[in-house]
Amino acid sequence: MYKIHLDEVKSTNTWLLDALNKGAEFPDETVLWTTKQTAGRGQMGNAWEAEPGKNISFSMLLQPTFLAPHDQFVLSEITALAVAEELGGCIKWPNDIFVNEGKICGILIEHKLLGTKLSHSVLGIGINVNQTQWIGNAPNPTSIKLQTGQDSDPEEVMNGVIRRISAYYRELQSQTTATRLKVHKQFLSRLYRKDGYFPYIDTATGQPFQARIVGVEPTGQLHLLTQADVAAGEEPEERVYWFKEVKFVLPCGVTKE
Ligand code: BTN
Repeated sequence: MYKIHLDEVKSTNTWLLDALNKGAEFPDETVLWTTKQTAGRGQMGNAWEAEPGKNISFSMLLQPTFLAPHDQFVLSEITALAVAEELGGCIKWPNDIFVNEGKICGILIEHKLLGTKLSHSVLGIGINVNQTQWIGNAPNPTSIKLQTGQDSDPEEVMNGVIRRISAYYRELQSQTTATRLKVHKQFLSRLYRKDGYFPYIDTATGQPFQARIVGVEPTGQLHLLTQADVAAGEEPEERVYWFKEVKFVLPCGVTKE
């Protein structure tokens, strides 16, 4: 596996995407990593906070030309699975990694298309390793240190994750439906709140509701079944959401897309 280390970079995702846009070529599964990302990017244009020297920020570049763009969610699944397995966490749909109700890792995946195929996918992963305090508005952060009480080597944490992503990725390249199904089942089995009713908020209407997860489509859409007050004549309703269309109300009271 080809790895590039930079002492400091604005954003590992942006660095790789800029290089690709300028015509640079990299081997499949190239990893760019740093412990000092100065302008880390999160989902929906948010910033990603990582204290210099404490955490690991890295991007793994894949060339999944064997995947059609509508199958891209499987890359999100293998990335989330790899991190959750390595850290002993669970996956808050679609791809945050939680340990004990705290977010320990954020994932930002960006794709480049060539015609009808995915030419490049940049799997951007930020893991909170030794950081214990956040100055920004990260809603419910945690870290390996906060969970274990011990410092860990950020590079070693990354190596464990990239080994797992690579193994899944190579399996996917076999292109069998059975492999995709197996990955999807493993993803579902690692889901945060996979059993039971929990509070959610519909982003469009602002309406709070209780529901349970009944499935995630291979496209990534989340299916929730509302809890009905049968005595009041209510019927449960199945609602289908894309990312950011629904917020999870967390035990700390914070809402989180
Ligand atoms: C999120 O908002 O949860 C996603 C955070 C993703 C952060 C990682 S750190 C490495 C890569 N480079 C970036 O600028 N962002 C991703």
